[in-house]
Amino acid sequence: MKVTVVGAGAVGASCAEYIAIKNFASEVVLLDIKEGFAEGKAMDLMQTASLNGFDTKITGSTNDYTKTAGSDVVVITSGIPRKPGMTREELIGINAGIVKEVSSNLIAQSPDAIIIVVSNPMDTMTYLVHKSTGLPKNRIIGMGGALDSARFKYRLAEALEAPISDVDGMVIGGHSDVGMVPLTTLATRNSVPVTQFLSEERLNQVKEDTKVGGATLTKLLGTSAWYAPGAAVSGLVQAIACDQKKIYPCSTFLEGEYGLSDICIGVPVVLGANGIEKVVEIELSDAEKEALKTSAEGVSKTNGLLEL
Ligand code: LAC
Repeated sequence: MKVTVVGAGAVGASCAEYIAIKNFASEVVLLDIKEGFAEGKAMDLMQTASLNGFDTKITGSTNDYTKTAGSDVVVITSGIPRKPGMTREELIGINAGIVKEVSSNLIAQSPDAIIIVVSNPMDTMTYLVHKSTGLPKNRIIGMGGALDSARFKYRLAEALEAPISDVDGMVIGGHSDVGMVPLTTLATRNSVPVTQFLSEERLNQVKEDTKVGGATLTKLLGTSAWYAPGAAVSGLVQAIACDQKKIYPCSTFLEGEYGLSDICIGVPVVLGANGIEKVVEIELSDAEKEALKTSAEGVSKTNGLLEL
């Protein structure tokens, strides 16, 4: 399994690190436009291999896409991250051009690769890759829901005063401060609905804290987060590499599922060797259906800013 990660910034480097530490890929190529940067990150990471016990070979490249040839999975983290006070949607102008060019360069070298899109605004960038590459929809995956769900579980565990391993939950919808739909009615603590432990008011707080999870970190860090985004990507890559058939909420092109069409937005999918192998249609409450619809309207509005 060869994986390419484009963008050796904090998110890209964390992706490479977590993929390597999990030791399921033979090779990770980090690519960046900044001279020597990816090579430096790759060398630094390789010098952790004997300490962290992995055999994945990490190499770096300054914009030489021939080094990425024959990748099974490619991850696009390129573009600018948001600064405090910015929304993900404000990044569209710069990031759309970058993502379009990067995806075309990647596909030229790895025509069979599965693409994971991380750059923001993520759902719109996933839609752009879908429209500009014409690849089958199972091979284009937007990473947002896995990250947002991890942040949801963190907030649930905090509210429940429980270990995170006791908690399960999922966030669907758009990867935006207003568009996320944390599924509080389906969240559980060791199979018991969390609604049996937490008041409606506390659950609403969990929901709101989850939705602004990225913004909260951007304010604290001065730029957007990287550990949890990197770990979330590594989970998706592993599900594909190891044909795990795991359910993750991912941004995928919908054709009628959940009553939505011509949009990429986060819904539960089965991830395996073929990428998105199935969209899983779960029963939502009326409020959640309405929230997903509103979220989709927001994503469509941002998609309308693309020059396709
Ligand atoms: C975040 C960015 C990666 O939510 O969108 O941290």
